[in-house]
Amino acid sequence: MSHSRSSIRRPSPLRPNSSFAFENPQEPSDGPHPLLHSGRVVVITGAASGIGRAAAHEFAGIGMRLALADVNEAPLKAVGEEISKIVGEENVLVVPTDVSKLEEVVQLRDKVYEAWGEVSVLMNNAAIAQLNGTTGTSWNGLDAWKQVFDVNLFGVLNVQHTFTPSMIHQENPAAIINTGSKQGITNPPGNAAYNASKAAIKSLTEGLAHELRNTPNAKVTAHLFIPGWTWTGLAGAKGNAEKPAGAWTAQETVLYMLDQLRIGKFYIICPDNETRKQVDQLRILWAAGDVVEGRPALSRWHKDYKALFEEYIRDGLAQLD
Ligand SMILES: NC(=O)c1ccc[n+]([C@@H]2O[C@H](COP(=O)([O-])OP(=O)(O)OC[C@H]3O[C@@H](n4cnc5c(N)ncnc54)[C@H](O)[C@@H]3O)[C@@H](O)[C@H]2O)c1
Repeated sequence: MSHSRSSIRRPSPLRPNSSFAFENPQEPSDGPHPLLHSGRVVVITGAASGIGRAAAHEFAGIGMRLALADVNEAPLKAVGEEISKIVGEENVLVVPTDVSKLEEVVQLRDKVYEAWGEVSVLMNNAAIAQLNGTTGTSWNGLDAWKQVFDVNLFGVLNVQHTFTPSMIHQENPAAIINTGSKQGITNPPGNAAYNASKAAIKSLTEGLAHELRNTPNAKVTAHLFIPGWTWTGLAGAKGNAEKPAGAWTAQETVLYMLDQLRIGKFYIICPDNETRKQVDQLRILWAAGDVVEGRPALSRWHKDYKALFEEYIRDGLAQLD
């Protein structure tokens, strides 16, 4: 049975001008940004490649000090050398770290605070995707599920638990950026473990933002960074494979993140060359609509709802454009 517009479609839930207000607005100013200026400290996990490496380059370009952490030592050292050429060796710490191991994360924090005594931006970015299909369904590959959760959820939690108590006592403003995914919001079929781990990141980062803003005197904000399709190893990039036209480069994604961080956004949802902002907005609203309207789970991929979903996107774009 397919569903007609009149049977389940209610007035559009779209409220494009009211629902995307700034959560943590920074005062616009001509001076240096309080978080992002020369001499302040950035910690990046998963810094050896992809978005983490591109972020290291951009932060170094601002003249910030960088602590680079990754489980993959050789490429991490190589990134450390690249960054040292930009900001000088004395402003770079290369700390091989497996974020799923709390003791290694504690060592990372100790090294950073011993060297520089503060953190301005904590980029909690390391993750794995397990693209080999071992977690393709929800009832096989339990070991792979555990690996994904150890890195993507407990790795982020280890970093958050270890750094936040120090950061909330700092005098200068600071930010914790946890990296989620659209897959943690709209839940496309195909990699259930990754999706579930990223849904957890959305949940815990929202909670963190609330707790931080209710902690007296804390000047730390939390942000949920949601890259679009970005051409990195995690997204299937290998060797010299050419970037598909639809994907953004890691640098494009990082520049978008920095723009949104500068204006204090909590949800930093990046578009790419295939999916523009309005399409993301509609897909997210549709996913929420499954719950509110009592449709089957993941109705976007349900054959009976295909035509209705396509119509919803067409109509929605016509309203938003
Ligand atoms: N590339 C995309 O299209 C995309 C889309 C949405 C979200 N993301 C997210 O962006 C973040 C960065 O991913 P990327 O695309 O740059 O992929 P990437 O594979 O290039 O980078 C991930 C890095 O994390 C490191 N890492 C893995 N396990 C680790 C561990 N236990 N401890 C420390 N480091 C570890 C890897 O060695 C790698 O250098 C991830 O959180 C990913 O889920 C990426």
